[in-house]
Amino acid sequence: DTPHRIALIPGDGIGTPVTEAALQVVAASGAAVETVTFPWSCDHYLTTGAMMPEDGIATLRGFDAIFLGAVGWPARVPDSVSLHGLLLPIRKAFVQYANIRPHRLLPGVEGPLKTRDFDILCIRENTEGEYSGAGGRVHVGTPDEVAVETSVFTRTGVERILRFGFEQARARRGQLASVTKSNAQRHSMVFWDEVTEELAAQYPDVQVTRYHIDAMCARMVMAPETLDVVVASNLFGDILTDLGAAIQGGLGFAASANIDPTRQGPSMFEPVHGSAPDIADQGIANPMAAIWSAAMMLDHLGQTEAGARIMTALEATTAQGIGTRQGRDGTEAITQAVLANLQG
Ligand code: NAD
Ligand code: IPM
Ligand code: MN
Repeated sequence: DTPHRIALIPGDGIGTPVTEAALQVVAASGAAVETVTFPWSCDHYLTTGAMMPEDGIATLRGFDAIFLGAVGWPARVPDSVSLHGLLLPIRKAFVQYANIRPHRLLPGVEGPLKTRDFDILCIRENTEGEYSGAGGRVHVGTPDEVAVETSVFTRTGVERILRFGFEQARARRGQLASVTKSNAQRHSMVFWDEVTEELAAQYPDVQVTRYHIDAMCARMVMAPETLDVVVASNLFGDILTDLGAAIQGGLGFAASANIDPTRQGPSMFEPVHGSAPDIADQGIANPMAAIWSAAMMLDHLGQTEAGARIMTALEATTAQGIGTRQGRDGTEAITQAVLANLQG
């Protein structure tokens, strides 16, 4: 097979060790991939003045997929600069409108909840909404200062993410939870509800329930087993998926895929977590979220056997009790155990 070409962006902090671990696992899985590494990061910004070169997006366009660690080192570069200079433009430029984030417990991992009986697929709108970037500040530094951050929801954007959610629900257990705050936000979120109802008519086999974001947060903790596919806007989905990671046992377990379902450009795969400056260089970052994300990448590229082998090895590792408690086993020990299970 012609190998798939992967653009690797380790980024900042623990992005480097977790992507290294994941790519070692990918290499051992029998997947046919070829990787080119781009050093775009906060360090890159401090030496060049830009998070990525001007032709960065054009360069990435030539790849089959992008694999990213994490971006951000707020003590050196403001997040508003680093994230808007690298991660967020990639999601937008390649119209990776569906951010897919699965939440379930790996075998042997004890989450904080009473139940382990949940399997949630969060689908986060990934290109607009509260992350539109529209807005501004006036009378800066004066008592009259006003800051405006405008959410933008388009029919195209709302319809396509909800449709994607309906399709996923149809392929799973047939349940779709649509998350809004339409009791308080009477323009965008009422619009979202209307589109949900329109699409529901086209998917009579999918059972749709509407939730407010606050109530959904409580439900994910109290009754996660009642949820199947959960669709939310950009910001609500961001918050819900750190909550989802928490009920999986921690940020180090949660994987994500930023997908352009039309496949016009490359999709991007990355853990839900960030660069974790508080534990960077300590050798204790959990690489499982990155490894799981790599398996999602291989699935997306059609290398489903290698993807499945990686997931089986990951699950065998946690079933042995390795890496099950965040902070106990190091990055290297977990990676070696996954590699051993891949061979065995
Ligand atoms: P974070 O996810 O980096 O860390 C939150 C907490 O979880 C920290 O205590 C950290 O040590 C822990 N943690 C995260 N990943 C872990 C792992 N794999 N193993 C063990 N523990 C882990 O969130 P933050 O502290 O809010 O953000 C740090 C930086 O990362 C910021 O610059 C932020 O903007 C950025 N960020 C980037 C991404 C991304 O690139 N996709 C995602 C989230 C945050
Ligand atoms: C994530 C991150 C990013 C987001 C930040 C770093 C901009 O939290 O991927 O979940 O909010 O999308
Ligand atoms: Mn987040």
